[in-house]
Amino acid sequence: MAKRAIKKSGRAASLKGADLLTISALTPATILSLFKTAAKAKKNIKPFRKALDGTTSILLFEKASLRTRITFETGINLMGGTALYMDHSAQRLGERESVKDYGKNLERWVDCIIPRVYSQSVVEELAAAAEIPVINALSDRYHPCQGLADLFTLWERPGGLDGKRLAYIGDGNNVCHSLMHTATLLGVDLTVITPEGHSPAEDVVRDCLAYAKASGSVLAFSHDPAAVEGHHAVYTDVWVSMGQTDTAGKRGEFGGYAVTGELMATAGIGIKGGSLFMHCLPAHRGVEVTDEVIDSPNSIVYDQAENRMHVQNALLLHIFGKAG
Ligand code: CP
Ligand code: NVA
Repeated sequence: MAKRAIKKSGRAASLKGADLLTISALTPATILSLFKTAAKAKKNIKPFRKALDGTTSILLFEKASLRTRITFETGINLMGGTALYMDHSAQRLGERESVKDYGKNLERWVDCIIPRVYSQSVVEELAAAAEIPVINALSDRYHPCQGLADLFTLWERPGGLDGKRLAYIGDGNNVCHSLMHTATLLGVDLTVITPEGHSPAEDVVRDCLAYAKASGSVLAFSHDPAAVEGHHAVYTDVWVSMGQTDTAGKRGEFGGYAVTGELMATAGIGIKGGSLFMHCLPAHRGVEVTDEVIDSPNSIVYDQAENRMHVQNALLLHIFGKAG
């Protein structure tokens, strides 16, 4: 399938034949149309059973995965496509042959490449080399499929996204970046709380401040865990991501940023029913979140995990031009 991204103000207005390397490539309207397709496919997959008939997508994973691998493989199978898994944990992409040649070979055989890699530059190199769509399944910089699932999980709940305030607490990492992109594009207020020295990347902050301005949302930053007060949901992620080597002292510095019952009580001040808890998973219980919080009725972590498949199904349907 040849790529056919329709560019509008530097962002894709249609996903047909396009890559998804980062959420910042999407318009708010495209994200919302993905959500509508995801809701439809979640309710009833039957109309889409043959949508990917005759197509093959390949997962190239340099890093471990439960959710991303299983949701892509299951979703592709449910829609009649074939999913291949290449384990690249022992040999990084680009080691045996150039990433460019890898992409140029794959486009001759398969229809879509889904890489999970150490470096965002590898995702970009693959996308530049191959004439078939590339979907970023996580890099050091971004986790776009996660960002889509996270906001979809809030969007599908009663009351939707209107007037919602979200707090992210922890490391300013890949998950944080994609959450920032998705929330600010969709007009959701977001407070990002990180220890000093672990703020999100400056270019992501700059872009997201512009998206927030355009969508009318508030994007705020703090180093104080007490800044969680009055948010509808509190989101955290692991403190040390896969492949991170600069971990010296990280656990110690992050101690005050753990999501405990007390922190959730602060977050829930003024919020009817209290604040929801979110995590992309895998979680380190007793480290960034307590059992009490992740197992509480306000925890929606397994809804997020389930929705990974529904938003990715929608993404594939749009990319293959089968969303209807
Ligand atoms: N949230 C997520 O991407 O999980 P995996 O690392 O298990 O794929
Ligand atoms: N930030 C984490 C997310 C895992 C889904 C990592 O990159 O390891």
